[in-house]
Amino acid sequence: MEKLVILGGAKLSGEVEISGAKNSAVAILAATIMVKGKCRIENVPHVSDINVLIDIISGLGGKAQFASKGVVEIDCTDLNKYEADWETVRRIRASSYLMGALLGRFGHARVGMPGGCDFGVRPIDQHIKGFKNLGAEVEVDHGMVDLKADRLIGDNIYLDVVSVGATINIMLAACLAEGTTVIESAAKEPHIVDVANFLNCMGANIKGAGTDVIKIKGVSELHGGEFSVIPDQIEAGTFMIAAAATGGDVTITNIIPEHMESLSAKLEEMGVIIDEYDEAIRIRTNGKPLKCANVKTQPYPGFPTDLQPQVLTLLTTANGTSLVTENVWDNRFKYVDELNRMGAKISVDGRVAAVEGRPNLTGAPVYATDLRAGAAMVIAGLMAKGVTEIYNLKYIDRGYENLEEKLRSLGAQIARRNDSGNVRADIG
Ligand code: EPZ
Repeated sequence: MEKLVILGGAKLSGEVEISGAKNSAVAILAATIMVKGKCRIENVPHVSDINVLIDIISGLGGKAQFASKGVVEIDCTDLNKYEADWETVRRIRASSYLMGALLGRFGHARVGMPGGCDFGVRPIDQHIKGFKNLGAEVEVDHGMVDLKADRLIGDNIYLDVVSVGATINIMLAACLAEGTTVIESAAKEPHIVDVANFLNCMGANIKGAGTDVIKIKGVSELHGGEFSVIPDQIEAGTFMIAAAATGGDVTITNIIPEHMESLSAKLEEMGVIIDEYDEAIRIRTNGKPLKCANVKTQPYPGFPTDLQPQVLTLLTTANGTSLVTENVWDNRFKYVDELNRMGAKISVDGRVAAVEGRPNLTGAPVYATDLRAGAAMVIAGLMAKGVTEIYNLKYIDRGYENLEEKLRSLGAQIARRNDSGNVRADIG
């Protein structure tokens, strides 16, 4: 079985460049389904979720491929199917965007219920509510969602839950609807703005993305063009935390500092020194143990749930007891058992984890229980004394481009191995 092997203790130092945002790129790739013409998308991370979407688009009759590093070329002019089978789409959560995109394009979409990381119930009721408001008939049977509309007509849609996925999905379908759609209580994550910018570049008329009210005036057609995806806020945050966790000195480039504000503020509260530049952030510590801090996840601009496992890992060796509250997902603490096996002292009660700081973690074999939990295990391995082996790498590969190469360039002792031999001698 493939595993990552980490010999902990190395302080990360140097410069690392962040890739394009995975959660933006997956939505943009799905959005190209509605475009008649060629799209050239730059700064696309080469991760397995993107490969799955490229396969899905090709299976629907579109042309999609990596033309060069970070550049995906897509032409969906001749795309001719509105059905994406369950076997393919269950591999990624972002396949839910096929619903909005195919509905917008054909007035008909048949898509398997989306998969993705498992951290509790992942409903799509708000997506469905939005599609119904636009005039679609929706049926769910045998794991397939069938959406049909003779005409999509703009409407006012109030989301009962702030949902990234529902906001993007409704925005997609509404682009090619008749009249104006207003999404109220919309999510405001940076990738929502990015998807809206992409659609506008291709001829859509969307205003207000990044606020909680988004107005979409339907247009009759979207045309091809070029677009570059924003840097990945969560990858950037993962490196910021890894740098702090190892007491290192790392400059992170291709980053939008304002997207990092909730994390930067929390790290500063813990005693991390942060210097912000236009498109870079330098992270270092003063060599002393970090201070404990309480963290509560919230939709953007709050602290991102996708950085919760990583920051909690950092807090395992902070001075004092920290409380980490997960407000977005109902079960995103599965990974704490793995950290406890590395010597952490974490107890979970519902949505709150109490993290009692210990002097250090110790290496152990651990499992990545989902994408960001996998990143947390990597950070734990970098912090720990001794060797950590991380299994279940398919999760990490879904969302981090060249993670171990990037970490190695900063001095981490990390390697990917297939065997079960003594790897300690192989590292470094
Ligand atoms: C997106 O998932 C991200 N995925 C997730 O990142 C991220 O954790 C999440 O947003 C929150 O920021 C992608 O962008 C591909 P939501 P999404 O709809 O859109 C509830 C990662 O690690 N809800 O904003 O699926 C839901 O149960 C991934 O990169 C409803 O109740 O999340 C949750 O509690 C994992 N009904 C909350 O809203 C709905 O119809 C937020 O979910 C939809 C959601």
